[in-house]
Amino acid sequence: MKKKISLIGAGQIGGTLAHLIALKELADVVLFDVAEGLAKGKALDIAQSSGVSGFNSSIIGTNNYEDIKNSDVIIITAGVPRKPGMSRDDLLGINLKIIKQVAEGIKTNSPNSFVICITNPLDVIVMALQKYSKLSTSNIVGMAGILDTSRFKYFLSQELKVPINKINSLVLGGHGDTMVPTFNHTIVDGKSLSQLVKDKKISAEKLDTIIDRTRKGGAEIVKFLKTGSAFYAPAASGVEMAESYIKNLKKTLPCAAYLNGEYNIKGLYVGVPVVIGKNGVEKVLEIELNEEEKNNFKISVQAVEELFESARKIDPDLSN
Ligand code: APR
Repeated sequence: MKKKISLIGAGQIGGTLAHLIALKELADVVLFDVAEGLAKGKALDIAQSSGVSGFNSSIIGTNNYEDIKNSDVIIITAGVPRKPGMSRDDLLGINLKIIKQVAEGIKTNSPNSFVICITNPLDVIVMALQKYSKLSTSNIVGMAGILDTSRFKYFLSQELKVPINKINSLVLGGHGDTMVPTFNHTIVDGKSLSQLVKDKKISAEKLDTIIDRTRKGGAEIVKFLKTGSAFYAPAASGVEMAESYIKNLKKTLPCAAYLNGEYNIKGLYVGVPVVIGKNGVEKVLEIELNEEEKNNFKISVQAVEELFESARKIDPDLSN
């Protein structure tokens, strides 16, 4: 039977998601937005490309939540994106309100779906989504680590002149300036990044610049675009998660997942490697971190905790 993916938010990322999902024939697509015409227009445009691209997925646009019922996967991008000079955290108040509505729509119409959240500030919004919707924590996950890792890999491949498919990496922690690239879990053409630094294949200074550029990867794009934030790479990252769930690929992917004691953290969403298969988040992997990475991870977790405290102050319902 054909699968169904509903996309809540038909903006830049939502539209790109719909196109990628259709091209891969991963599922039929429902594109939902409060701006009805936007969802309908994009759905029609993408559907009309099937005659050229030859895909066999149906795509509809809607502003009626009932159309998302029985979705296998729901991907949320509803919200406002950053403008130049804004941090992801600046989006908190407005996107919290939007996510509360979205949570209600999902809870009422498709409570058994696997839900991927992309709306920023990611870690806190995904946590709020779980609290508002009360869906199981294994069925709610945030997209950030795959994107951060992909940016890190891209910059490394450019610097080291190594094809990107020969680089494996994991960027952990919150989706923000405190994200944590891991050196021993970054393998470039068979060698760890720590080893490459030791062998002087890359200087510590150059690596710092790359890490800094990765942390600010989203802001760099916002600065260029001026009217919005990144959407191609975020959409591609969301699709990888959806595909692992729908096809039961059990891929290990860095995602914002609910921690219940893992990494000594309880009751918080943070970026860690997880296995995604037909049961959603099937496992949180506890990988070994060196002392510096452990410290950086702690700082990142604190940043997420602090922002969640701010969210609680904005909406006391989050304390329930
Ligand atoms: N329900 C559904 N859709 C909504 C709602 C709502 N309550 N409120 C806003 N939207 C829709 C807007 O109408 C818009 O079409 O969300 C869409 C967001 O699209 P864009 O503004 O193009 O933003 P996009 O670049 O797709 O990013 C969306 O993902 O990465 C994050 O920081 C980014 O939080 C932002 C989100």
